[in-house]
Amino acid sequence: MKKINKICCIGAGYVGGPTMSVIAYKCPGIEVTVVDINEKRIDAWNDKNLDNLPVYEPGLKEIVAETRGKNLFFSTQIDKAIDEADMIFISVNTPTKTYGKGKGQAADLKYIELCARNIAKVAKTDKIVVEKSTLPVRTAQAIKNILDNTGNHVNFEILSNPEFLAEGTAINDLLYADRILIGGDDTPSGTEAKDALAAIYGHWLPDNKILKTNIWSSELSKLVANAFLAQRISSINSISALCEKTDANVQEVSKAIGLDSRIGPKFLNASVGFGGSCFQKDILNLVYIAKTYGLNEVSDYWEQVILINDYQKRRFANNIVSSLYNTVSGKKIVFYGWAFKKDTNDTRESAAIYVADALLDEQAEIVVYDPKVSEERIYADLDYLNTRTEEENRKLVTVVKEPIEATKEAHAIAVLTEWDEFKKYDWETIYKNMLKPAFVFDGRRILDKEKLNTLGFNYYRIGEGA
Ligand code: UDX
Ligand code: UDX
Repeated sequence: MKKINKICCIGAGYVGGPTMSVIAYKCPGIEVTVVDINEKRIDAWNDKNLDNLPVYEPGLKEIVAETRGKNLFFSTQIDKAIDEADMIFISVNTPTKTYGKGKGQAADLKYIELCARNIAKVAKTDKIVVEKSTLPVRTAQAIKNILDNTGNHVNFEILSNPEFLAEGTAINDLLYADRILIGGDDTPSGTEAKDALAAIYGHWLPDNKILKTNIWSSELSKLVANAFLAQRISSINSISALCEKTDANVQEVSKAIGLDSRIGPKFLNASVGFGGSCFQKDILNLVYIAKTYGLNEVSDYWEQVILINDYQKRRFANNIVSSLYNTVSGKKIVFYGWAFKKDTNDTRESAAIYVADALLDEQAEIVVYDPKVSEERIYADLDYLNTRTEEENRKLVTVVKEPIEATKEAHAIAVLTEWDEFKKYDWETIYKNMLKPAFVFDGRRILDKEKLNTLGFNYYRIGEGA
């Protein structure tokens, strides 16, 4: 079996950074270099102060402290790292296309292709190329064509090795993965490449957790895993709307169905809607692929998961407006949380963005507090929507660092992220700070209903009637 001595990973993002850190940590004999075209990002990965790493993940900085400069390196010298590596991971972003054919649904493979062409140009020895980015089924073939047709006649083996880590628990998910999926050709050289990658994970995971498949199954499984997870959330969220109209309580329903061992208890928390860089993008991708093959019923089926998610965000915003006597114009509404979930500074597709957008349409005055998300990021998220001018966004939205102070003279608080600290706040003081009646809209169901009602709040939470 081919022994891997040097690894290069292209893309130092939320996936590439933590994954390579863990590989370096668990495989001291392998030299791992993470490269990126974004110099600022690489500088941040190299920052002496580990609190400035570009990705926040519990446990990450300890691992980087242990490995960086020993067998883990962050660099912008992409060609050098490709040239020296035996194995190259591609972990660049694959956003949804914003133009041309497949606009709004298909994955934009521009960056993947650029990477493939660059590898082809630089490589002078045989390489194993691993797709880490989530890709539409059959992308491996495209990568292989580019490598074989433009390369220097060296041999390339392409593997698909999708990442299943969730943000906020990335390090744990990597260290104690449920499974590792490795897809590749069933040829002798393909099998050898799969074994080489399996041996890396074998440094810390047992054999029975490492699943080898053909390349298409591997690529498709990643999309399907995310689609199934998102589908559970949309399913329970659709029921949350029904619960609010009846006397049912969505948490009781979740618990009751989750105790059925065939259903299981996880991913049944009703919320203001799922966010994150993967769920929506991957389902749109699945929808697009199914449509491409003329499977319209299949694509409609999965598209509904997204439509319910949009409905849930809209419903939450509409409920705020109608509860505040059908007008929020000029009213101060405090957002607790902006990240798409707790324990991350990532805001991609966060429900908060869309709820804010809907309320800004009604000219609400929004004050945002999030323990990890920067002011710059929040404005960038709103500007990106292009719903209103940058000046208007800055006029209507304020970002603060003092969550309690922020509630002075506020009409309402909306909880958009389930940060633990929100539960521990002095809600009595908050109540005193606010205008009356004081409303709290809990999009994450994390606050103590009885306590808030006793303090005098008008407390609403997803999935329960008034
Ligand atoms: C990305 C994809 O979004 C996801 O589909 C896939 O599963 C894993 O890779 P993530 O790591 O969260 O996820 O993306 P991001 O944080 O945007 O990082 C990608 C990095 O690649 C960026 O730092 C970007 O600068 C870099 N990049 C992009 C390159 O180095 N070269 C390129 O050509 C394009
Ligand atoms: C997801 C997958 O879990 C992971 O396996 C894959 O590699 C990438 O996509 P991530 O997006 O980081 O990970 O977070 P996840 O924990 O799955 O949460 C996604 C969204 O769903 C968040 O907005 C979260 O708040 C929401 N969610 C999750 C719910 O609303 N209810 C739930 O019960 C669970």
